[in-house]
Amino acid sequence: MITLGIDIGGSATKGALVDTETGKMVSERIRYETETLVKPREVAALVEKIRKKLGYHGIIGAGYPGVVKNGVAMTAANLHKNWIGTDVAALIFNQTGQVTTVLNDADAAGLAEMRFGVEEARQYKTVLFLTVGTGIGSALFVDGHLIPNTELGHLKIRGKDAEHRASDAVRQRENLSWKKWGKRFTEVLQTYEFLFNPDLFILGGGISSKYESYAEYLKINTKILPAKLENTAGIIGAGMAAHEASA
Ligand code: BGC
Repeated sequence: MITLGIDIGGSATKGALVDTETGKMVSERIRYETETLVKPREVAALVEKIRKKLGYHGIIGAGYPGVVKNGVAMTAANLHKNWIGTDVAALIFNQTGQVTTVLNDADAAGLAEMRFGVEEARQYKTVLFLTVGTGIGSALFVDGHLIPNTELGHLKIRGKDAEHRASDAVRQRENLSWKKWGKRFTEVLQTYEFLFNPDLFILGGGISSKYESYAEYLKINTKILPAKLENTAGIIGAGMAAHEASA
């Protein structure tokens, strides 16, 4: 099935048509930059712009960077506070006229990686997928089933959110060497390891393509693999979620 996958982010809203059978994007990927504190109405208008540009009619899936319950955004760590309490699924439906499913962005990316990215991931009982970019997003899978909205980027580590210690944005802002960032991120991973004892970590987001630069500095016992779909995972997973919701 072909669906429209949308990835709502702190700095851009992106979208493409997704073939949910193959896990591939089957159109150009359209990206509109936004202000950091972008409001819900502005994003809904961008989704409609993307839909029109692609000449698409049909179900839409959208990943949102916060807790999402029944289509409603419950948090907005790196976005405008107006998002909190917004029925994002209804908002996009009202703007586009297309039935929309909304889920957490890391959960969407994790779904895509588990199905079409890291092949061996499905052999493990507990897999923790992390997306490291502006923030740290998490998607926890047990026996291949997603446990949604885990939000481990906001777990406090020595009094500070994990994502404020070791996101990729922090690495760039503080100009940290890979070694220094690796040390900070190791502490984050050790905390997750202690809580969940996963069998595998998958690292996605901006850092996934630079895995060779820091792999040696991550000192934990659990196996780690870089994600394979890179920056397309969020869109593909959102498209998959729309399909699953319609089935
Ligand atoms: C948000 C998460 C999101 C992650 C990555 C965090 O700040 O709270 O919901 O998955 O950023 O975008």
